[in-house]
Amino acid sequence: MSLEHDLVTLAIDIAREAGELARTRRDAGVAIAATKSALADIVTEADREVEALIRTRLKEARPDDGFLGEETGGGDGASEITWVVDPIDGTVNYAYGIPTYAVSIAAVRGEPTPGAWEALAGVVYTPVVGELFHAARGEGAWLGENRLAVNAEVGPAGALLATGFGYDPATRPGDLEMIARVMPGLARDLRRGGSAALDLSYVAAGRFDGYFERGLAPWDLAAGSLLVTEAGGRFGRAEPGDSPRAPLIVAATPAIFDRLATAAGLV
Ligand code: IPD
Repeated sequence: MSLEHDLVTLAIDIAREAGELARTRRDAGVAIAATKSALADIVTEADREVEALIRTRLKEARPDDGFLGEETGGGDGASEITWVVDPIDGTVNYAYGIPTYAVSIAAVRGEPTPGAWEALAGVVYTPVVGELFHAARGEGAWLGENRLAVNAEVGPAGALLATGFGYDPATRPGDLEMIARVMPGLARDLRRGGSAALDLSYVAAGRFDGYFERGLAPWDLAAGSLLVTEAGGRFGRAEPGDSPRAPLIVAATPAIFDRLATAAGLV
């Protein structure tokens, strides 16, 4: 068995346990623990508890690996592998009782920075819906037992796209201006689902033709970006300094990637 296979198998087991903990805590009621970068950027008690569970399980199974999590930050390891974790991606959905939130766990090699890392394994699990997406480098992307492929082509009505907005209200005018440039001539419609990890998983599954968003953090995109590329899609990221829109990611079927990347301002 490959290293990638071992990593994704471990991530699947831990994501299932973590997802069930998140769902149980949601059923018992949500306590907002704090606000972070902006008033709208919340962390719940469950975010912290679920991340602690994932961190503990990873430490037990692979004590030498590093860790980078949304709620507890980083910790260097002695191995070349770092786990990049969002315990509950879609925290606002979670707080409002909207079922589309997900546990996102990825294993990457190298610096745990998008663009610098090599993603080896990724899992996105949405416990209420009961869907588990996983990918291992070179071994494809999967939803349960079904192998995923991005849409081969986009129909004449245009692409079904998705996006998201950061928590800082100051970024909203730029986000809306980007939508105004992307939609005409390219999109049949636009979705804002509230979980970047699921948006990327849905591109991999052909449920969306493309997705773009500014300002994401590494844990929002680590697992989902591997799902997209293992499903035959393209993923691009502009770093600050590369583009006035950066940091910006675009993920899409190759059928529209270049057009979407240009309209969004990736290039
Ligand atoms: C957020 C979600 C959301 C995206 C935000 C992210 P969080 O992550 O992925 O869809 O638009 O930019 O911060 O805070 O729920 O883990």
